[in-house]
Formats: sequence, structure tokens, C-alpha cells
Amino acid sequence: MQINQAIATYDRAAVDYDAIMRRYWHIEREPLIASLQLQPGQTVLDAAVGTGLNLPAYPQGVHVVGVDLSHKMLDEARKKNVSADITFKVSDLCNLDFPDNNFDAAASGFTLCVVDYPVRALEEILRVTKPGALIAIIDYCKSRDPEIVKWQELISDAASQLGFPTDKIKWNALMDYEELIYNSKLTIEVLIDNRIESPNPFSCGCQFLLKNSKA
Ligand SMILES: C[S@@+](CC[C@H](N)C(=O)[O-])C[C@H]1O[C@@H](n2cnc3c(N)ncnc32)[C@H](O)[C@@H]1O
Repeated sequence: MQINQAIATYDRAAVDYDAIMRRYWHIEREPLIASLQLQPGQTVLDAAVGTGLNLPAYPQGVHVVGVDLSHKMLDEARKKNVSADITFKVSDLCNLDFPDNNFDAAASGFTLCVVDYPVRALEEILRVTKPGALIAIIDYCKSRDPEIVKWQELISDAASQLGFPTDKIKWNALMDYEELIYNSKLTIEVLIDNRIESPNPFSCGCQFLLKNSKA
């Protein structure tokens, strides 16, 4: 999805986004954030933070920097009740406006299936996090079951162009985590790779815990 289309889509979705996620893609965020083992005083990147569904799960004493392209998603995120210290920034995940080695950890929910260049986005997350940093990802993804992939191929054009619900959530229904994680040659160590397989082609997902293995 082109950047302008992503902004327009998620600006439109912002007010309804949490209800849509609750209904179709609900998942508890606490285990994802807990997997980062954050310590007081650490700074974590939430990429892209959206309406801030991860935010209540961050512990007190941690500084969270939530980036997103959509001002309206960020406006919703500002309404969340949070214990951590939060800063918001409009920034493109594929071209992050932060120095190298800036963050102790990073989290990303349902986002790499939205950006046009997920390898580039993960490269940027690796650049701005410190060597050894943990990176927790939860996302929609292409199934490992070829029968389910046929359905995902069928919905792929509609998911990326029309969205579901129409004009609200748009994503790549064939988001390939095998390519992103195992074939991209990025400097990552995979600590956890959990797949959520489903006969429903909308509901296939994955959860990763990665370690930034750059020198
Ligand atoms: C499906 S939402 C996920 C929001 C949130 N992370 C969550 O877990 O609910 C995708 C988000 O990615 C943002 N986005 C899409 N492309 C982006 C990019 N290139 N850079 C930064 N944010 C982007 C959208 O504005 C939207 O808020």
C-alpha cells in the first residue's frame, strides 16, 4: 500500500479501529509485551503504535516511543490509560527518524502486513535498536497450509484494495514471514516462532520474539 493510501485508510479507520480489532482480530497484548522483559528506565519502540492497543501492557518506569503515519490513529492512542511514559511521533517505519542503537527493545503489532516493504521496515527496527535488543512481533500472516493459502490468494486483492471492513483495514493477505524472517538474511536470532493456523483465511497469524544479533 502506498504511503498516502495507508494514511488515508488508517485515518478513516481510527475511530472504529479498536471495535474492529476486538471483533475480528482480538488478541491479548500483555504476553507480547511481557516477552520483552522490559526493565525500568528502558526505552522501547512501538512500531507502528496505531490506536495504542499495546500501550496499557507496558509497565511503569518504561519509556515508550510510539510511531505511526496516521495522526488520527495517534489521536486515539493518546486517549489510552497507560502506566508507562509515552511519546508519540509521526514517522515512516521504512525510514525511521531515530539514530542507530537508540532503543532497548521494540514491539510491532499487525503492521508488517500493512507496510509495502516489510523487510525494509524490519531493517529499520534493527538499525534503531541496540545489539541484543528483543523485538516482539504479532501479525497476520500467510498460512503454512497450501489449502488455506488458496483462500488467502482469493482475498488478497480485496484485502489490499477494498479493505475489510470496506475502506477501513487494508493489509497484505499473503504477508510472508518465511521470507521476512528466514530468507531475508537480516541480523536476527529467532527466539520464538509461534504460528496461529486457522481454517479462516482472515485469522492466520504469527508471534515472533527476535533478538537483534547485529555486532
Ligand atoms: C493494522 S494497524 C496496527 C496498529 C497497532 N500496531 C495494533 O497492534 O493494533 C497498522 C498501522 O500501521 C500504520 N502504518 C502503515 N504503514 C506505515 C508506515 N510505513 N510507517 C508507519 N506506520 C505505518 C497505520 O497507520 C496503522 O496505524
